[in-house]
Amino acid sequence: MKITAVKLKDLNKITKLEKKIFRKNAFSKKLLKKLILTSLLFLKLEIGVIKKKIIGFIIILKDKNNRANLINLLIDSKYHKNGFGTILLKTALTRLENKSMVFKKIILNVNVENLPAIRLYEKFNFKIIEKIEHYYYTGEDAYLMELNLRKIQKFNQGA
Ligand SMILES: CC(C)(COP(=O)(O)OP(=O)(O)OC[C@H]1O[C@@H](n2cnc3c(N)ncnc32)[C@H](O)[C@@H]1OP(=O)(O)O)[C@@H](O)C(=O)NCCC(=O)NCCS
Repeated sequence: MKITAVKLKDLNKITKLEKKIFRKNAFSKKLLKKLILTSLLFLKLEIGVIKKKIIGFIIILKDKNNRANLINLLIDSKYHKNGFGTILLKTALTRLENKSMVFKKIILNVNVENLPAIRLYEKFNFKIIEKIEHYYYTGEDAYLMELNLRKIQKFNQGA
C-alpha cells in the first residue's frame, strides 16, 4: 500500500472512482483537474505491487480564511471497513502538520446522515461545531466539523 500525491496522469482513474462513489454528487473531471493543480494536499492510496490500483483519495484545500478544508475523502466501497480511510486521513493530517505551522485548524462538511464518515472524523477528535440546514443542493443538512491541529500529535501517540 502506498500513499502519494495525485498527478494529472491519474485524472481519469480519480474521476471514475469519484463518480462510482458519489454518483450525481460527484465532482466533475474539470474540477478534479483544477484541484490536482491547486490543492494543498491531494493524496491517493494505491494497493498492489505489479498492478497498482487507486482505491481512495483525499483532498485538502486552503480556504479563504486561511484554514485547511477537507473537501473530499473516499475509499472504494469494495475496500471499506479495512482501515484504509483511517490510514489515509492520518497520513494527510500528519503531512498537513509538517507542511506548515500556518494551519491551526482543519474543517470539513459532512452529510448528517453519513455515519461512517462522522465516526471516522470523531475518531480523530474532529468535533461537530454547527449543523448547516439545506447545505446540499438536494436539501440535505450538513455538520461543520473542526479539528484543532495541535491535537494530532496526541492522536498519533495514542494510536
Ligand atoms: C468514510 C469512509 C472514507 C471510511 O473509509 P473506511 O476505509 O471504510 O474507514 P475505516 O475502515 O478506516 O474505518 C474508520 C472508522 O470509521 C467508522 N466507520 C467506518 N465504516 C463505518 C460504518 N459502516 N458504520 C459506522 N462507522 C463506520 C468507524 O468508526 C471506523 O473505526 P473502527 O474501525 O475503529 O470502528 C468510507 O466509508 C467512504 O469512502 N465513504 C463514501 C465517501 C464518503 O462519504 N466520504 C466522506 C465525505 S465527507
